[in-house]
Amino acid sequence: MSVTVFDPRIDTTDTSSTAETTLAAQAATALEESHSAAAPVKKVFVTTQGCQMNVYDSDKMLDVLGDSHGMQVTHDIDEADVLLMNTCSIREKAQEKVFSELGRWRKLKEKRPDLVIGVGGCVASQEGDNIQKRAPYVDMVFGPQTLHRLPELYDQSNEQKGIAPKNRIGTIDISFPSIEKFDFLPEPKVEGYKAFVSIMEGCSKYCSFCVVPYTRGEELSRPLDDVLAEIDNLAEQGVREINLLGQNVNGYRGEKDDGSICRFAELLHYVSHVDGVERIRYTTSHPLEFTDDIIDAYAQLPELVSHLHLPVQSGSNAILAAMKRNHTIDVYIDQINKLKAIRPDIHLSSDFIIGFPGETDQDFQDTLNLAKELNFDHSYSFIYSKRPGTPAAELPDDVSFTTKKERLAEFQKVIIDSTLQKTREMVGTTTRVLVEQVADRHPDCLLGTADNTRTVMFPFEEAQKDELLGKLVSVRITDFVSPHMVKGELVEVLA
Ligand code: SAH
Ligand code: F3S
Repeated sequence: MSVTVFDPRIDTTDTSSTAETTLAAQAATALEESHSAAAPVKKVFVTTQGCQMNVYDSDKMLDVLGDSHGMQVTHDIDEADVLLMNTCSIREKAQEKVFSELGRWRKLKEKRPDLVIGVGGCVASQEGDNIQKRAPYVDMVFGPQTLHRLPELYDQSNEQKGIAPKNRIGTIDISFPSIEKFDFLPEPKVEGYKAFVSIMEGCSKYCSFCVVPYTRGEELSRPLDDVLAEIDNLAEQGVREINLLGQNVNGYRGEKDDGSICRFAELLHYVSHVDGVERIRYTTSHPLEFTDDIIDAYAQLPELVSHLHLPVQSGSNAILAAMKRNHTIDVYIDQINKLKAIRPDIHLSSDFIIGFPGETDQDFQDTLNLAKELNFDHSYSFIYSKRPGTPAAELPDDVSFTTKKERLAEFQKVIIDSTLQKTREMVGTTTRVLVEQVADRHPDCLLGTADNTRTVMFPFEEAQKDELLGKLVSVRITDFVSPHMVKGELVEVLA
């Protein structure tokens, strides 16, 4: 069956279309009839593990099934007809969670044999048909690059209901069909004022510890016009903040109309010109491609938030080399200093791996010192997890797990202290906030997000509500509420 059949954007009224399109139109009509009046609406439930790319992908899974099969999203697993699990394999623990959660889903399927279970994401990509060997009740297996084919996989699985899942045909697809996914996704639907936009897939950096290049494939950028069309559409629906996503987002190299290549800094300029876009974030970037033109963009584009998430992983040059990060600590510090010269108020966050094979006490001290020196706003830190198939899995590792845990605790204390300090330092300053909603527990207050990702709460008059929601405002911070939340007073509406 051709994927085209399920392309939601096919114009079924175009009589001059090709035979393929006519076929598609017929199939689409048949499909619509089969979901019409008589058939109850199916409900789909999704759980998401891992990174923001997965959060984005899960949304798209719901979109495609809604568009092709009229399925409705449910947050109640007990009323769902289709269960989807979007998995993460970045660390062993995340991977183990998949099978324990699937064990619970098996019990649901025993009670409701018509339940359709699908496993997607990086564990699916890595394990392929092994998923059904360990969990034979799983109906569909798909990877991050093939989630747009879910409607087909679903139909195949329904048509072959009487056959054991592992013997069915066409219900597993973990291929990497270039950038095709984005061509088959329905128009984005928006809730609120913030949206993610995936601009590239995969990663070609091959850090020695990381599975991403194997599970998501090599870097592939979406064409510039596609990205801008998606952002235009989102802005028209009221989105004010765009978060550009990619495993290696600043490695973006999207084709332009004339065949030339648009690099990340240039893309930032294009996005800032989209009507309605007031704030731009991006995640996650790699120091290797954090080039001067990106740093210069902070001088030119007020829409760029004063917050940068730039994973460094370790403060030791020896460990960085063993991780194959291809830069030194001096390069990283130099980049940060250049950025601080342009944006003195820049907030920084990072990712760290503690206990990489061969990490000595001195290497760990170097990491601690870096964190103290740069005073990160917040950071993610995890103990190194050996990932089968990656080069680091072959490295000798003589540091005990107890030592690694002690190092992580010591490191996280430094990070938590600087998060607290940074939030406390906000008191008395004025900060830019995107106003998002009325506070559930304090209906006399509005909630929004500051550039540095802290939640900001401030009182408002009922009459101002519509004027403020979805606006960028400036708020003078008066109180510390919690490490990630502050309170303040409205100063003015900015945009
Ligand atoms: N593109 C980003 C990383 C994306 S992966 C970069 O430039 O670094 C997200 C984070 O997961 C990484 O930054 C790393 O800190 C963590 N991670 C990846 N593989 C890991 C492993 N094997 N063990 C522990 N943490 C890991
Ligand atoms: Fe992983 Fe390194 Fe890419 S951490 S996502 S291989 S930049």
